[in-house]
Amino acid sequence: MSVTVAEALRQALAAGLARLDAQLLLAERLGKPRSWLLANDDAVLAPADAAAVEAWVRRRSAGEPLAYLTGRKDFHGFTFAVSPDVLVPRPDTEVLVDWALELLAGGLAGLERPEVVDLGTGSGAVAIAIERRAPRVAMLATDASGAALDVARRNAAALQSTVAFASGSWWGATGTRRFHLAVSNPPYIAPDDPHLAALAHEPIDALVADDHGTAALRAIVDGAPAHLEPGGWLLLEHGHEQATVVQAMLSARGFDAVETRIDLGANPRCTGGRWRSS
Ligand SMILES: C[S@@+](CC[C@H](N)C(=O)[O-])C[C@H]1O[C@@H](n2cnc3c(N)ncnc32)[C@H](O)[C@@H]1O
Repeated sequence: MSVTVAEALRQALAAGLARLDAQLLLAERLGKPRSWLLANDDAVLAPADAAAVEAWVRRRSAGEPLAYLTGRKDFHGFTFAVSPDVLVPRPDTEVLVDWALELLAGGLAGLERPEVVDLGTGSGAVAIAIERRAPRVAMLATDASGAALDVARRNAAALQSTVAFASGSWWGATGTRRFHLAVSNPPYIAPDDPHLAALAHEPIDALVADDHGTAALRAIVDGAPAHLEPGGWLLLEHGHEQATVVQAMLSARGFDAVETRIDLGANPRCTGGRWRSS
């Protein structure tokens, strides 16, 4: 049976997809802009396209992120390849990138070649966005997952980024290097958090941390003094209810200028501080 664009969209909505997701999947498969769908809703899909869209609709309605179906996600103005080996970069994480860029243009502006590290880089989105927007940095990106690092390396090559990569657990991947700026969006969801059910398609190691979600945040804060230059900054993304805990961790470890930034939804999302100068 032949299926028109309008019919394919109707079927996707009936399967529970949001209209935007349905349009994006159809446009992606047909290689057309979304506006084309509206002007051509009586166009008949080739049988292979109809079958592929139907399969995508089934997977999307089972909760698979749209980005895993299309294989890419936009972040901070760049398009990144993604696979189920990496977390899908979130718009809220752009706050972390913006803060890093603000420091590089402000307090760290006097440094000719600031040493910067992104711990737990996943797709490489944070590291690559910072390096592409502030190319004077020497950027290292790390992850404990070799499969994630493969995706990140491919993204760096595709986006002509000079980011270097290292494998290992948190600061253990950086050797004896010291940094002027460290950023991280570590796993911070508690193992018993009910929201995890909706994230079942993303890698569990990218999402979950022990101690009510704070174990990775604490490991990074505790190890930071041995890896930061005096006056260097540590910026951490965290859960919207973890700002007070992260502020306390940083202050107790001896950081000053501790501050929290909000995300696009006005939730406390990133907390950072400056390692003391002496
Ligand atoms: C929340 S994801 C963030 C990915 C990416 N930075 C982003 O913002 O889209 C956390 C990342 O930390 C990595 N990770 C988990 N445990 C780690 C560890 N012990 N050491 C280094 N990286 C780790 C995961 O593999 C995952 O890529």
